[in-house]
Amino acid sequence: MDIRCISVDNGAGDNDLGQWDGGGLVVGLFSEGDHPLRRQLGALLGDDLDALLERRRFRGKPGECLALDRIGASPASVVLVGLGNPDHFDGAALRAAAAAGVRTANRAGARRIGLAMPVEGLEARAAASAMAEAARLGLYHDQRFRSEAEQDSQPEELALLGLATTAAEGLAEVEPICAGVELARQLVASPPNVATPAGLAEIAAELARDFDLELRLLERADCEALGMGAYLGVAQGSDLPPKFIHLIYRPASGSCRRVALVGKGLTFDSGGYNLKVAGSQIEMMKYDMGGSAAVLGAMRAIGQLRPAGIEVHAIVASCENMISGNAIRPGDVLTASNGKTIEVNNTDAEGRLTLADALVYACKLEPDAIVDLATLTGACVIALGEEIAGLWSCSDALAAGLESAAKAGGEALWRMPLRDSYKVGLKSHLADLKNTGPRPGGSITAALFLRDFVTADLPWAHLDIAGTVWSDKGRSDSPPGATGFGVRTLVGWIQAGAPA
Ligand code: BES
Ligand code: MN
Ligand code: ZN
Repeated sequence: MDIRCISVDNGAGDNDLGQWDGGGLVVGLFSEGDHPLRRQLGALLGDDLDALLERRRFRGKPGECLALDRIGASPASVVLVGLGNPDHFDGAALRAAAAAGVRTANRAGARRIGLAMPVEGLEARAAASAMAEAARLGLYHDQRFRSEAEQDSQPEELALLGLATTAAEGLAEVEPICAGVELARQLVASPPNVATPAGLAEIAAELARDFDLELRLLERADCEALGMGAYLGVAQGSDLPPKFIHLIYRPASGSCRRVALVGKGLTFDSGGYNLKVAGSQIEMMKYDMGGSAAVLGAMRAIGQLRPAGIEVHAIVASCENMISGNAIRPGDVLTASNGKTIEVNNTDAEGRLTLADALVYACKLEPDAIVDLATLTGACVIALGEEIAGLWSCSDALAAGLESAAKAGGEALWRMPLRDSYKVGLKSHLADLKNTGPRPGGSITAALFLRDFVTADLPWAHLDIAGTVWSDKGRSDSPPGATGFGVRTLVGWIQAGAPA
């Protein structure tokens, strides 16, 4: 889908929607107030708009869509999308409305869709990017695992109508970012017999080839040599060999900043001997590599956008958590690559074991900041639900940088505490620490566990994305299934220079 900005100025400083010559037109309408778009729409429809809306019971509530078929007229299909109260209209509402309106117009058969939204209160460039991203991501449709593809027509063109001339400046970045989000969605949705550790390594190799990145792939023996006992302990119950992925983006000339992105890459989490029981979503545990999907999706975008002055390292200690005669037992003690010993009191708290060695590895690269993303705890899902990821950080500047990138990208984060006193929950009488604390505050003790494997004073943030990687009901700009959560936050943060 080709996305551009088109002026429909009538020469007198007003918009004439009749200038749009495509088959579909989407117009956003507030539930109250007298926005010029309302008059412009009235002029186009040549009808008493208020009477029409009354007759069709269109109130302009958020999410409301009304499709008008106009046989013989142009545009043949006009979609009205509700925006709610203008006082509450923001970037998130704009994304939701753009996605819903464009999806409705596409379903109505429009090939070339014009989108007119009231964006006066928002920065033009950000508004244009938000609409373009939401429209494209809302039309995403994954048919890879069907024997016969369903009819799936994507529009040829999306035209953003009547925006300021500066609005188009960010549109070139929409394609790389959306392709990154889509890669993350594909990886998360892939079944666990396809997205295996070797499967993830193969994707990393493809990214390296296609986007001029450097790949360092560590096999089991390489990880043994580095003393990664925590990660390899998790991997040892699986028949599939672990793959430790290190993908690097280097800018064209002299890099000034260096960041590491670490993603949890459990391609399947059975729980191990602390086996997941019915109701614990064992059949969904293919998405336990959602952190690695976000990191690889972000690397695809970064490799295409090629930001200057920043070197980006993506690190994924991927493996499966399985049961076998060789699997770790509850009670085993493992030694991580920083020498710390861990009593595994619960084999289902495996993500933090893999991340421990991945974080130690990341610290050795001496980055200016580390961000890890992980589907780490059910406790975080209980705390924040499926729309908001938990954010823990020892650095206020890094937390603020991630929060602002998330907001701009339409993703939601909520900062959670790294409360020192909760560390007692991880006290072991045998080893340096246990991998599991008490159930209350479980996402906080998980974050505190990770902190033990990060060099003191190195700006580090942890995102628990257990709730946000998947949505059974879908989101405004994401059909039911994998959301690709995290890619836009990471890419936005890096493009802003990775403040930490
Ligand atoms: N991958 C799970 C966390 C998870 C649970 C993600 C539900 C998405 C939905 C993780 O490895 C896990 O099993 N965590 C345990 C930790 C517990 C044993 C301390 C959990 O949250 O129950
Ligand atoms: Mn687990
Ligand atoms: Zn897990």
